[in-house]
Amino acid sequence: MEGYAAGTRTQELIDVAPTPASEGQPLSQPSSGQVADETHPTPDPNVGRQPEPTPEESADLPAATELDPTIDPEKPMVALTFDDGPSKATTRILDVLEQYDAHATFFVVGTQLEKFPEITARAVSLGCEIGNHTYGHKNFTKISKDEILDQIGRVNDLVLQAAEYEIRLVRPPYGAGIKDETVKATVTYPLIMWSIDTLDWSTRDTQSTLEAIRKDVQDGSIVLMHDLYDATAAAVETIVPELIEQGYQLVTVSEMFAAKGIPLEAGNYYRKAHK
Ligand code: NI
Repeated sequence: MEGYAAGTRTQELIDVAPTPASEGQPLSQPSSGQVADETHPTPDPNVGRQPEPTPEESADLPAATELDPTIDPEKPMVALTFDDGPSKATTRILDVLEQYDAHATFFVVGTQLEKFPEITARAVSLGCEIGNHTYGHKNFTKISKDEILDQIGRVNDLVLQAAEYEIRLVRPPYGAGIKDETVKATVTYPLIMWSIDTLDWSTRDTQSTLEAIRKDVQDGSIVLMHDLYDATAAAVETIVPELIEQGYQLVTVSEMFAAKGIPLEAGNYYRKAHK
């Protein structure tokens, strides 16, 4: 894909640490401690509803992986990411991003997208990236291969409809399934995790969300938040100008990996773009 330098650094950059204890799950039960159900059915190499688009097919769509010429690969950068939206809180976050000419990545859920398609369209118009967080926030290790494909395909279709945008990244709900061979072979997209978990969905506290970021942020961080809460939007209003003031570029996940020459490959998972 254009914008990606060929490289061999992928393996050393893939963090093999255990799956984080939790990811925000405000749509059903809180999932503290819930991770992949480590069943290992036989992988089916024939699965794959999402073939690589030909250049002709994708020519009219925004190129999510094209490096923005205003990004300086030599300067530090951070990818703020937001899961489980869009929602009304997303609008407030987009206002901040627009004000500071910053980008972020939104891993959208289909049931929310059906309610707020115009918000996702606005995010795309501001240069933000849209990732797939499944139609109904499903745990990939607890549904069939056909259901996985349906969950991903429906969101792809909705985003295409809402914003003429072609999704290139998936974030599995709960971070589940990133080490499950069947899941990885079925999803056929890069699986994007995170290096900073703000736990905003649990605390609903602006100050602790800010502290989680301040404590661990570095060049190449992927920050996990949820664009469902006013407390999170308030944290964004503070952290965006603060990070910019510290010299960080606020970029999308694809922009960050492209700028660092790290290819994002289907079936691999990524927690960060630093060692
Ligand atoms: Ni989620």
